[in-house]
Amino acid sequence: MTPPRLFGLSDLHVGHPANRDTLQQLPHHPYDWVIAAGDLGETEEHLRWALDVLRERFARVVWVPGNHELWTMAGSPLRGLAKYERMVEICRSLGVLTPEDPYEEIPGLGLWMVPLFLLYDYSFCPPGMTPSEAIAWAAEDGIVCVDEHRLHPDPYPSRQAWCAARVAEAERRLSKLPTGARTVLVNHWPLRHDVCRLPRIPRFTPWCGTTRTNDWHLRFGAALVVSGHLHLRATDWRDGVRFEEISLGYPRQWKPEKGAPGYLRQVWPATLTPAPGEIGPIWHR
Ligand SMILES: [Fe+2]
Ligand SMILES: [Fe+2]
Repeated sequence: MTPPRLFGLSDLHVGHPANRDTLQQLPHHPYDWVIAAGDLGETEEHLRWALDVLRERFARVVWVPGNHELWTMAGSPLRGLAKYERMVEICRSLGVLTPEDPYEEIPGLGLWMVPLFLLYDYSFCPPGMTPSEAIAWAAEDGIVCVDEHRLHPDPYPSRQAWCAARVAEAERRLSKLPTGARTVLVNHWPLRHDVCRLPRIPRFTPWCGTTRTNDWHLRFGAALVVSGHLHLRATDWRDGVRFEEISLGYPRQWKPEKGAPGYLRQVWPATLTPAPGEIGPIWHR
């Protein structure tokens, strides 16, 4: 049997009708896997709709939550962990792999699929700032993430405390993989500050990840790291490991002539080879 290829697309934001329209144009890949790296939408209906589109087209769907899935929405009382658990329940009812499931060995590839939900802790900021200082630093530029009002950490005391708990649990599970295991690490938020480039809103970074994962590509044998959230599609290499940002984004952030079929990224096998010493970024506009 031919091993599957891995494709990825995140930040589908299916609350936007234009995004729904273009996602329905995605081609069928009946033998391949697809990584949906978060921000499919805000509601249970959004998640179901997006996953149904992907399930019809791919052999296996892998999901991790973005911040939008974790928002508390009007008409639904679910907050924080309860909202996350509800989204996981929906994925499971549809046969979609989540961060709560055992890591899966991808048939024929010698790679372990590792969906992660790590959140952020405001540490992507100038060194030495506390979370509240990082938020104040962003506010100097008029930047505040909507998460501050909609992504509740309950029952954790703070988003950074929830992040710390998630990181610790993922470290525990990753350390149990077989010695020498090669992994595909998937997380909505980028694992490294240096691939988190936001030229238009540089002080949005506190809501984009945690410095605790800076060396995870080396510590946990990554062959590939996949993330979204930035809505700036790119390929980078660090220490010989490929990092892929695979967002679709809001309608103004993708070209109608390309649409979802043009932005669906084949992430394995690689389609780009770095020149000697090249670290990227290669932008996918
Ligand atoms: Fe997004
Ligand atoms: Fe996001």
